Amino acid sequence: MTDATIDLRSDTVTRPTAAMRAAMADAEVGDDVFGEDPETNALEREVAALLGHEAGLFTPTGSMANQLGLRLLVAPGSELVADQQAHVVRAELGAAAVFSGITTRTWASTNGRLVASAVRDIAEPNAGAYSVSTTAIAIENTHNFGGGTVQPAAEVRAVQAYAREHGIALHLDGARLWNAHVASGTPLWELADGFDTVSVCLSKGLGAPVGSVLVGSTTTIAAARIWRKRYGGGMRQTGFLAAAGRFALAHQVDRLAEDHGNARVLAAALDVDPASVETNIVFAEVSDPAAYVAAAAAAGIRLMQLGPRRVRLVTHLDVSREDASWAAGVLRSLPR
Ligand SMILES: Cc1ncc(COP(=O)(O)O)c(C=O)c1O
Repeated sequence: MTDATIDLRSDTVTRPTAAMRAAMADAEVGDDVFGEDPETNALEREVAALLGHEAGLFTPTGSMANQLGLRLLVAPGSELVADQQAHVVRAELGAAAVFSGITTRTWASTNGRLVASAVRDIAEPNAGAYSVSTTAIAIENTHNFGGGTVQPAAEVRAVQAYAREHGIALHLDGARLWNAHVASGTPLWELADGFDTVSVCLSKGLGAPVGSVLVGSTTTIAAARIWRKRYGGGMRQTGFLAAAGRFALAHQVDRLAEDHGNARVLAAALDVDPASVETNIVFAEVSDPAAYVAAAAAAGIRLMQLGPRRVRLVTHLDVSREDASWAAGVLRSLPR
């Protein structure tokens, strides 16, 4: 429990543990723009290896990692297709259009769950001189606004086969790929396989304070390094942050199963279909979300309104089973 409240707004609210802070304090650092920060270099190598890609690039945020990937895969004036609730579509404030001149079309889904035919139905490779051509597809795993949905492997493979056949590039927004890995038991490299670029966040369920990593081929990541600097994301002694990420990778991946269990405890209290709770995110229907969020806050529980009838609850490192059980009891008793 933090500050006597239980904060279920997001898994980004975690504070570093004493052990993580010690790892950060002990980090050997150098100037990362010169490529001389040992911790950052090690983190980039480790994440690339875990995800089965050639190279990695540390970025300040998941949004920057996504936008670097998209910038490198989609030429200005051509098209990205993505889920209509994808983070790159809904929550990066038009960055793909603003920074990279990318136009976007979206497919509809239920709970963000990928269905390959929906992608095939809207993608238009080689559209000629009149319509915009699709040059990349973005998939999000797990799907945040879909409710932490783990993407079905067969659908991902079907989209990849289609993309390969038509020369379309693939980006994976894997901000919570760690949760997909723990929930499904699928190795990380397998979840990241077949994508040109993959972003992963260290600052969400993993519990590090800052940072993401973009992985891809050596050539792609070398180009991303230049664009990161251009975007103002070339940081200096990043080893302090990279050390937190490396600590999280070593100690805080398997425990995500606890967050998934706690999410199920909260879901049960709010009559949410347990089948819709695959990882650490719960969406609950309420008639007046603003009133529900206010009542929960008055009782010491912070939630987020997301949509006209929904509130979001996200479990994480700073929410114990005891916290979740207590919050479940309180939330069940509030008028919905
Ligand atoms: C699926 C997904 N992708 C990307 C991001 C962006 O991460 P950041 O907030 O570090 O920019 C988020 C953040 O919530 C996310 O949920």
